[in-house]
Amino acid sequence: MRERKADHIDICVKERIAPDHNYWNDIKLVHEALPEVDYDDIDTSTVFLGRRLELPFMVTAITGGFPGAKRINANIAEACSRMGVGMGVGSQRAALHDIDVDSYTVINDFEVPLKVANLGAPQLISQPGKEPFTDEELAQAREMIGAHVLAIHLNYLQEVVQPEGDKRSVGCFERIRDIARSHPIMVKETGAGISKATAQRLKGIGVRALDVSGMGGTSFSAVEMHRARKAQDRIRERIGETFFDWGIPAPASLCMARVGLPLVASGGIEDGLQAAKALVLGADLAGTANSVLKEAMVSADAVEAKLQEMAEELRVAMMLTGCRQLKQLPDRDHIVTGPTRDWIQRE
Ligand SMILES: Cc1cc2nc3c(=O)[nH]c(=O)nc-3n(C[C@H](O)[C@H](O)[C@H](O)COP(=O)(O)O)c2cc1C
Repeated sequence: MRERKADHIDICVKERIAPDHNYWNDIKLVHEALPEVDYDDIDTSTVFLGRRLELPFMVTAITGGFPGAKRINANIAEACSRMGVGMGVGSQRAALHDIDVDSYTVINDFEVPLKVANLGAPQLISQPGKEPFTDEELAQAREMIGAHVLAIHLNYLQEVVQPEGDKRSVGCFERIRDIARSHPIMVKETGAGISKATAQRLKGIGVRALDVSGMGGTSFSAVEMHRARKAQDRIRERIGETFFDWGIPAPASLCMARVGLPLVASGGIEDGLQAAKALVLGADLAGTANSVLKEAMVSADAVEAKLQEMAEELRVAMMLTGCRQLKQLPDRDHIVTGPTRDWIQRE
């Protein structure tokens, strides 16, 4: 498991793991030539799930569970605490097996205003040779990092592409329903998006928030393709390539997932203008993972600089669309072009 985690990081920083088309670029915000807003008065603060953030951003789950992960999570946590933005840790499956627990708990050394624990949906049910997480383990994952919410990630694209994947899924939805009775749950995808019907089903069972994590950014099919190539597993490599851009484009998934729950938009968000577009389309927060990963391997200052840049771009987008506060962004005049328009028109 440690080796796989380290491989993921290595592949994500070195290889091509996102489709060439960034779907956020299909959204254009209409310029407001007379904004009647003073730049210095722009307020980017928000409240998400009862937590006050200085910016509508979060760094979504990346890592944990191997020795190098501690420094990455420490750098992200320090930057997030300085900037007042949310952070998720990577899947805590390793920590529940007592592996590199401090690579997750390091987040507790910093005042991160929104901390999100993380476990995978496939591990909520039994898999061949593997027991599902118990209720005690779920509580332990939250307590370990003092999490405000527990993210359950949906990653069946990755599970079916990787040779060692957990490929059973029957019973997952029922188990999420059980868990949502006793834990505040956010359900997140991992790069393939959430459809309207699934968003509605999840709302119906008491899930508190969704992170759509749509297609257009990190592709776990691509990540597994690179792993398979290294292992000289030709069939898996080919499957990973075939499903490289499988999924619902992130902006389209965001529109589909507007079912009345707090929403994180992620999947290919690389700058503050794209974050502004996500907020115009109805997101409460913009999430990013891979676009801070290289920085997270360097220092907290490097992550902070990237978040500062995104914050400044968001402010510029707010000024140029005439918004002093975030609550003015939803439904600002915009046009949708390219393949994203085809997806959204279907709605
Ligand atoms: C190296 C790496 C590891 C990840 N590990 C997890 C994980 O353990 N749990 C999870 O929910 N998502 C994980 N993700 C998915 C991200 O949280 C996010 O949903 C996805 O990468 C899309 O965002 P992006 O395009 O900004 O990278 C990981 C992403 C990366 C790049």
